[in-house]
Amino acid sequence: MGITGDWDQRISRRTLLKTGGSFAASVTVIGAVGTRAFATPPFTGNPFALGVASGDPTPNGVVLWTRLAPEPLLPGGGMKNEFYGVRYEVAEDDGFNNIIRRGAAEAVPEEAHSVRVELDDLDPAHEYHYRFKFGPEISPAGRTRTAPARADQVGELVFAFVSCQNFPDGYFTPYEEVADSEDIHAVVHLGDYIYEGPSQTFRKHEPLREIFSLEDYRIRHGQYKTDVHLQAAHRAHPWLVTWDDHEFKNNYADLDLDPDVPPEVAAPRRAAAYRAYWEHMPLRRARKPQGASFQLYRRFHWGDLVTFNVLDGRQYRSDQVAPVCTPAQRTPSGYCPGVLAADRTMLGAEQRDWLLEELATTTARWNVLAQQTAFAPFDNDPGPLRGFGTGDNWDGYVAERQILLDWMVQKRTPNPIVITGDSHNNWVRNVPPDHVNFDAAPVATEFMGTSISTGGDETPRFTRVPGAQNPHILMRNNDRGYVRCTLTPDTWTSEFRKVETVLQPSAPCSSLATFAVTNGSAGAQRVGV
Ligand SMILES: [Fe+2]
Repeated sequence: MGITGDWDQRISRRTLLKTGGSFAASVTVIGAVGTRAFATPPFTGNPFALGVASGDPTPNGVVLWTRLAPEPLLPGGGMKNEFYGVRYEVAEDDGFNNIIRRGAAEAVPEEAHSVRVELDDLDPAHEYHYRFKFGPEISPAGRTRTAPARADQVGELVFAFVSCQNFPDGYFTPYEEVADSEDIHAVVHLGDYIYEGPSQTFRKHEPLREIFSLEDYRIRHGQYKTDVHLQAAHRAHPWLVTWDDHEFKNNYADLDLDPDVPPEVAAPRRAAAYRAYWEHMPLRRARKPQGASFQLYRRFHWGDLVTFNVLDGRQYRSDQVAPVCTPAQRTPSGYCPGVLAADRTMLGAEQRDWLLEELATTTARWNVLAQQTAFAPFDNDPGPLRGFGTGDNWDGYVAERQILLDWMVQKRTPNPIVITGDSHNNWVRNVPPDHVNFDAAPVATEFMGTSISTGGDETPRFTRVPGAQNPHILMRNNDRGYVRCTLTPDTWTSEFRKVETVLQPSAPCSSLATFAVTNGSAGAQRVGV
């Protein structure tokens, strides 16, 4: 429904109750109360201080997002505890001369005055521009894009993947280039969008303590969204997001926290964290968390070229077990018996079955697992024995990884590619067929992206090949940056982009290394020098 002219963006609860409380009905009410238009919003400051975003593109639609928060670091974002209506416009052009959709959406205090608009009747493979209006205020304009139709033969997709943006450690400088790259059609965020801790390094966390309550998580998300480059990257492209641990609590596994707290303490905190996450992301209303449950895993298709399986490796996983055992206790593979237990799960049965079904039936050229923690093994024991890190990644969930790998082989899943965050390092790993034979022919390829800012400007910086005990690992590097992927039917190319510094608000990115995977042949090859 189109709405034109000045109208009151403020809808009292009483008015809504009078109309049965349905917002669809209230859109008409907004038009009807237009003669009571407020000349100025009921607060000072920019209501769109957190910018705009879009995400979860389908061939016919996309989700548009904003949040009214003139004072993001204050409780309630500086908004009154009232109900508002916000207008939106969608146009074919960035000058908004050809507006194709207008409407209004609700902003309620129970949802931190976040606004989401779900468009479901757009054209496939199409660029759109959008903006929000509240009183006399107009938001920055965003650009977004729908996916191609499922059956379309897509010749190319360029997307960026990112992870781990610790606000105190530096500016989110790598997003400057992500935002400016007009050929990028989507951004995939693999988690650690916020950090929950009390950190104070280069910048200062708000509040300056670990966060627990819904208000805490909202303020933290609000603070992160004040970063200008993060805002610019959201404005420029549609995003697909998933979380890792720090959106809630470091290294959590389902409701198990370290140090241990009873589930009745962990559950309401997780509910707060998940709720604030949903409020701040361009995710569909149907995904709104139910208490401490949030079905975040989902799937996206870009024509026949690529399918993204966006995974949640936190909410359903078994608790981590100590990966350290005495040499006498180690199995012949070097793994401790505990991590090999058959019943350990990273994904939970339901999500795993959902993924297995897809891997058996997909017809996409490239099949992506967009997920959190390192998938391929990494022997980090410098001696002759093998050792496998903290147990937080897939080396702590060996049996379930084996199920996925065996299934990919058995079902001949076309070109499985794993993209991963979490480690704050760039890695290229050919995924071996099991946890023993690292030099066997790979069954998948893993690209792990470094952090946007977490760790700051590390010194010394290094780029190395881990060596003989990890023959399947082609590169490790500790610069900050992001990964730019170019997909064609014949080739997947991952270019690792490193930023000069995250301690300056603006800094150039340059190419660190480029690796390619050829259709039909798992494993990466270095491109160029
Ligand atoms: Fe991280």
